[in-house]
Amino acid sequence: LSSASQHAHEFCSIGDDSGCGSSSTKLLIKGGTVVNAHHKEVADVYVEDGIIASIGPNIVQVGDEVNIIDATGKYVMPGGIDPHTHLEMDFMETATIDDFFTGQAAALAGGTTMHIDFVIPINGDLSAGFESYVSKAKKSVMDYGFHMAITKWDEAVSKDMEVMVKEHGINSFKFFMAYKGALMINDELLLHGLERCKSLGALAMVHAENGDAVAEGQKRMIDLGITGPEGHALSRPPILEAEATARAIRLAGFVNTPLYVVHVMSIDAMEEIAKAKKSGQRVIGEPVVSGLVLDDSWLWHPDFTTAAKYVMSPPIRKAGHGEVLKAALSAGILQLVGTDHCTFNSTQKALGFDDFRKIPNGVNGIEERMHLIWDTMVETGLISVTDYVRITSTECARIFNIYPQKGAILEGSDADLIILNPNASFRVTSASHHSRSDTNVYEGRTGKGKVEVTISRGRVVWEDDTLKVTPGLGRYIKMKPFSYLFDGIEKADAAYLASLSAPVQRSRASS
Ligand code: URP
Ligand code: ZN
Ligand code: ZN
Ligand code: ZN
Repeated sequence: LSSASQHAHEFCSIGDDSGCGSSSTKLLIKGGTVVNAHHKEVADVYVEDGIIASIGPNIVQVGDEVNIIDATGKYVMPGGIDPHTHLEMDFMETATIDDFFTGQAAALAGGTTMHIDFVIPINGDLSAGFESYVSKAKKSVMDYGFHMAITKWDEAVSKDMEVMVKEHGINSFKFFMAYKGALMINDELLLHGLERCKSLGALAMVHAENGDAVAEGQKRMIDLGITGPEGHALSRPPILEAEATARAIRLAGFVNTPLYVVHVMSIDAMEEIAKAKKSGQRVIGEPVVSGLVLDDSWLWHPDFTTAAKYVMSPPIRKAGHGEVLKAALSAGILQLVGTDHCTFNSTQKALGFDDFRKIPNGVNGIEERMHLIWDTMVETGLISVTDYVRITSTECARIFNIYPQKGAILEGSDADLIILNPNASFRVTSASHHSRSDTNVYEGRTGKGKVEVTISRGRVVWEDDTLKVTPGLGRYIKMKPFSYLFDGIEKADAAYLASLSAPVQRSRASS
């Protein structure tokens, strides 16, 4: 093995030596089509110490302690990165049922090797929230990072944001424009938050729905006697998502800082992002799998348990929205796919049996994302295999500033890899999935393309439909501020200031 022993160590995360540098197994993946966002070619991939050591034709095995995997006829790709999950989150009088063990196990079984979860502050306290998530994540079986929600505003929060960025490796903060009376913030807080994000080089994220109008819409439905899950969709139509998306975009434009809109569910919201992008504004739109492949007809299902599992916010929209969102993704108007994996079992969903407002909001997806995007976008010819890698992995790594440690098959990158067989097929059922939930919103779905092997930092963790995971081996990935999205922001600010600085000569005399 030529350059194998000279692997780069600069990506190894400080203060953690699990995997990297330890005597983990050597791995040689032979004959697959190696796919990156920018290029694909038939090549071998050699992995040592959890790091990709070399990529090239005909890498020869020396010694016999190397685990060889034949990938002929298959795709070798960077593991998926899910930018949007909620594991073990306290929410709506209960907590999501997948924790950092079951949620990540599910992820690995579906070809996702990293996720970024949302830390929720405790009574607005960022440090308390962070400590709580550090403890929740101790059972991790794969790498993960954190975003953080901002739910109130004062000096302590503003100071703590800096601590999170500079000491704790958080480079994004989320603002909920909905969930009135709980997580929702107002425009004044959003403005403060956007300004603070900009000064720290952190990416501002928004859940864009007009929470005041949602509350009115909910009351309207209850007054009409509509108390079932269909009331959820009827009470918060696309216009409320579009309004908040437009408002957040304009406020981010006013501050001149990049904006990331999570779970873009409607054509209406997507159009606002498209318009902003055409004007040159830096706005990222993240659709989620549920919004791309499902429609809201399920919410009218006569069986409550079936209908309730589709309740998430913003709601899954009418048939047609998903197709347009997929097209926007293929065109680069939307840039990456998440899941918003936020699972509740049927007992938890039943909290809202008499009142849709009490149904815990959220759907599964962390295990299904890679398969469903492959089947509905690559198999249908909508996107290329390289684009698949871009929207499921690389773009996320770039936006959150962890590229090329993650999101690429390059020498020195973490060996987070999947082997996908385009000729095999997948099938989703709650009986066989790895989530703790008793239901699955993709129940019974089949499709082409199957993740046959998942490799997490050089360890084969999913093979022959079997998981081999070890709690505690997952590593926290610190994310640095000032991603590429911030390049040149200060030049635009300087140009703006220069445009203001010519003093106006004004006389007092009236004419
Ligand atoms: O319904 C959803 N989306 N639940 C998770 C919380 C959020 O809004 O992202
Ligand atoms: Zn190393
Ligand atoms: Zn949200
Ligand atoms: Zn979410």
